[in-house]
Amino acid sequence: MAKPVRAGSGPLPRLRVQPTESELMSAPNKDYDPVQVTPLNADAVAAMRDEAIAAIEAATSLADLKSARLAHAGDRSPLALANREIGALPPYARKEAGQRVGRARGAVSQALTRRTAELQGEQEERMLAEETVDVTLPYDRDPRGARHPLTTLQERIGDVFVAMGWEVAEGPEAEAGWLNFDALNIGKDHPARSMQDTMFIEPEDAGVVLRTHTSPVQARSMLSRELPIYVICPGRTYRTDELDATHSPVFHQVEGLAVDKGLTMAHLKGTLDHFATAMFGEGITTRFRPSYFPFTEPSAEVDLVCFVCRGLEPEVAACRTCRGEGWIEWGGCGMVNPRVLVAAGVDPDTYSGFAFGMGVERTLMFRHRVKDMRDMVEGDVRFALPFGMEL
Ligand code: PHE
Repeated sequence: MAKPVRAGSGPLPRLRVQPTESELMSAPNKDYDPVQVTPLNADAVAAMRDEAIAAIEAATSLADLKSARLAHAGDRSPLALANREIGALPPYARKEAGQRVGRARGAVSQALTRRTAELQGEQEERMLAEETVDVTLPYDRDPRGARHPLTTLQERIGDVFVAMGWEVAEGPEAEAGWLNFDALNIGKDHPARSMQDTMFIEPEDAGVVLRTHTSPVQARSMLSRELPIYVICPGRTYRTDELDATHSPVFHQVEGLAVDKGLTMAHLKGTLDHFATAMFGEGITTRFRPSYFPFTEPSAEVDLVCFVCRGLEPEVAACRTCRGEGWIEWGGCGMVNPRVLVAAGVDPDTYSGFAFGMGVERTLMFRHRVKDMRDMVEGDVRFALPFGMEL
């Protein structure tokens, strides 16, 4: 056949020429043998499929699998490109090539689905294993707190009295000056006012103080309760003391008050002996030393048998806790002054009463041999923890 020749400048003649290889791809040609088109022959398609499946099976993570999917099942993957070439094949060859590529892509897509499920399952199992909480591990990462021994001791004291039929009473810490002083027979110019260095709440002439003792609860109880009265009142109290080993501006007292017909100092002594024994153990009883409080008459200091030497010879002579006395001061007490009964509306001819007040810190120091008051104030859990969870 003649070579095509370009003749002059007129329209090109229609030429019958041998198609080039690329023309074969786009023009139907009955003589074209698809087996010879490398990308679409059975071996090539099988190789693409096997390579794709091998890459999918080899993926060990979902991220790997994503790369394998893009490389072997994405738009630019060998099988996708092969698929695009099907349309260029002569019609008689398309069906077979289409089936071949279609089956190969189907197999790849099945492999993808299977491997995705496997890897997702593995990932879930791994998460379950890694995020497992071992509920049997000891729970010690958040340090445990503790109730303060002053709190538990006050509750314990309350229990000792509740067991004898007394009630626990409460009063405010910001207290009327009248109840903290006047109702307790501590008049304006009474020297006892300066004995109890007072914190006043501004303005000073409003007459509100931070209670200097729990004794105002005596007046409150008599004003608000029916007679007879048996109340115990542990609570926080305030004085302008500097913090040192034996003083704190914020401290605690426990007040006891009984008002009934025929109460005597013997009842007071019996009550305090029981209280002392409940706090410090058998054999720790009390003695009274004459003293003075404006709100009790007669009044006494309450001493305890020394809990270290127990007042026994020969230890007592060398005892540093009681300095050889055999006794340790614990608190104050007395018979309620009739003037206090009257101020609270109680008839002193029919009723008599006794009252006592102890420092809770002092009681804790004696009971547990705590040497320094500051340990109780600082709130360090290492101080509170060894007392255990007394409820
Ligand atoms: N309230 C007194 C004080 O703080 C103690 C006390 C209470 C004394 C009750 C006698 C009776 O010093």
